[in-house]
Amino acid sequence: MSNKQLLVFDSGLGGLSVCREIIAVSPNLQMHYLSDNAAFPYGGKTQQAVTERALEVIETALETIQADMLVVACNTASTAVLPTLREHLNIPVVGVVPAIKTAAALTRSGTIGLLATPGTVAREYTKTLITEHAANTQVISVGSSALVEIIEAHIHGVNLDIEAVDEVLREFDEQAGGEKIDSIVLGCTHFPLIKDVFIELRQDWQWIDSGAAIATRVCSLLNSQPTQANESNHISRLAWFTQTTSTTEQLTHYMFRHGFGAPQRLPRASQLSSGA
Ligand code: DGL
Repeated sequence: MSNKQLLVFDSGLGGLSVCREIIAVSPNLQMHYLSDNAAFPYGGKTQQAVTERALEVIETALETIQADMLVVACNTASTAVLPTLREHLNIPVVGVVPAIKTAAALTRSGTIGLLATPGTVAREYTKTLITEHAANTQVISVGSSALVEIIEAHIHGVNLDIEAVDEVLREFDEQAGGEKIDSIVLGCTHFPLIKDVFIELRQDWQWIDSGAAIATRVCSLLNSQPTQANESNHISRLAWFTQTTSTTEQLTHYMFRHGFGAPQRLPRASQLSSGA
């Protein structure tokens, strides 16, 4: 598996929460991380805008990156663009979508929360997930772009605004039945990056994300058993961005901590449409 190349895509840096799960299962896997930071955030864009933009960015990346598989580590993109990507690309595509099924199986109270972007909450894909896997469960949704932007800014060096995070969580309490919630689906890949903060704020809720399940699926699809880290192997993990950032130092540090190299501008990014 170590010679297989994986491309992991997100609008921003949330996909790193999925990467760390994949690296935990397959430390020798060669990875490319691709952030469409020029068009971040995706959460408030229409399904059509997300579909067109994600397809364009990924196709451009695949002109220079020899990937064996694509992971769309973004719920907002996955719930919009998966069929289109599978139609256009000749490599397997794994999406990350809210872990509604897992939460519906785990809840004791019968009420769960879905914390995602406004786009993910509104998508037909998400509604179908709820109908198919949580028919007997009350699902209370909160769509927040603010939370995504708070986390992204934090990665770029801004102090995490805990009060603003708590304010978003209070939106669950304000909805009918909110007091019965015992589990929250983290339906945006940015959110597991501050899972410890969520746990601190609401210790009585279970916080559920898709990362570990995706890692298992990716590794089984790459037709490999989990491997042990091999110090003698050169593991290449490159980080590509559609636009350079002014906070390169903080970002570089964060990428290093997640096992990736310094941020580089995606070749041919200048040819992307403004589509942001
Ligand atoms: N990490 C993306 C997700 O999982 C963030 C979406 C955004 O750019 O708003 O939904």
